[in-house]
Amino acid sequence: MILKNDYFLRSLLRKSVPYTPVWFMRQAGRYLPEYRKVRKQVGSFMNLVTNPEYACKVTLQPLERYPLDAAILFSDILTIPHAMGLGLNFLENHGPIFSHPTNNEESIIKLTVPDLNDLNYVFDTIRLVNKELDGKVPLIGFSGSPWTLACYMVEGQSSKEYKTIKTMLYSRPDLLHKILEVNTESIIQYLNSQIEAGVQAIMLFDSWGGILSDEAFKVFSLDYNKKIFSKINRQRNGNIIPIIHFTKGGAVWIKDISSSGCDAIGVDWTINLREARDKSLDSVAIQGNMDPMVLLGSHKSVISEARRIIDSFGMVGESAGHIFNLGHGMNKDTPHELVLDLVNEIHSYSRQYHV
Ligand code: CP3
Repeated sequence: MILKNDYFLRSLLRKSVPYTPVWFMRQAGRYLPEYRKVRKQVGSFMNLVTNPEYACKVTLQPLERYPLDAAILFSDILTIPHAMGLGLNFLENHGPIFSHPTNNEESIIKLTVPDLNDLNYVFDTIRLVNKELDGKVPLIGFSGSPWTLACYMVEGQSSKEYKTIKTMLYSRPDLLHKILEVNTESIIQYLNSQIEAGVQAIMLFDSWGGILSDEAFKVFSLDYNKKIFSKINRQRNGNIIPIIHFTKGGAVWIKDISSSGCDAIGVDWTINLREARDKSLDSVAIQGNMDPMVLLGSHKSVISEARRIIDSFGMVGESAGHIFNLGHGMNKDTPHELVLDLVNEIHSYSRQYHV
């Protein structure tokens, strides 16, 4: 398929573009009234995710409102543990919860790679979205990292302290490694199937890598992510499928992450983009990094923050790549009108930095 706008993919591969492309983590979601309407209609978040027609509809909603440079598949990172039989539910005002968490030896020994047929709803959604997009912009596929999935599988839900999984890490590392191995193999198969179904880029969400100590991050998160990158089928129909690695709170590890085999790294707002470039030696593209809460402020502060971030990256030129994004997901209380102003400002203000 010929893309009408390939600036996002070109930037991930550090090729020249006329302006900085932009998309947002959680660009489809509760801050959009049209999302809330569909969500109410289908009754639950899982009904939405597992129904390709509805999942396709909400994937496209933000693109109808804003001139974004990429679409991201509407799904969730917890589809894999759900297919492993952990029994996923999303409770109102609580978030995800598993009825069968893998927090003891017995459940961990039984853990196996899921039958990918149980995830056909994801691959069907990808095919449907691509048909509807008709080459307007590329489609991003994704997975959680082995470590981040393990956080939910062991804790059974979102957590503040990650006490159960950290206790396991320090007392029974063998059990944790077993989970991470099964997750890694599952993720490789899952991402390769997403590529086969038609996604044009991949993002690995290591949302909770940042809670680990320096040594533990490398052993229990990054080493497994590296293995995934080495096993992904990077070529499809003569095109390269770029990979984005995102560790929330991972700015301290940029040097290691940028040599892990990915093409781009997502960074949160704790680091200046000039410094991120320096640490990565411009060997990867950089995606980020506005604090999502800026969008809860005024029009004036949104514009000045966008400019500051674009200025901090500096000249893009021939061998560097910047993709504008937030440092984490869009907040559900974001005023959607401000998002249009932000996208337009990024597209116009960044032109001076592209030669
Ligand atoms: O970015 C997008 O627009 C694509 C869709 C997407 C969702 N989740 C939809 C979603 C993506 C890429 C994710 C990834 C995801 N899911 C992550 C990694 C990214 C991150 O935020 O760090 C994580 C940790 C999850 C797990 C998850 N899903 C949690 C903890 C929650 C509850 C918290 C919340 O915001 O309510 C979800 C639910 C979820 N996933 C929603 C959406 C739009 C809200 C559900 C609703 O409509 O009620």
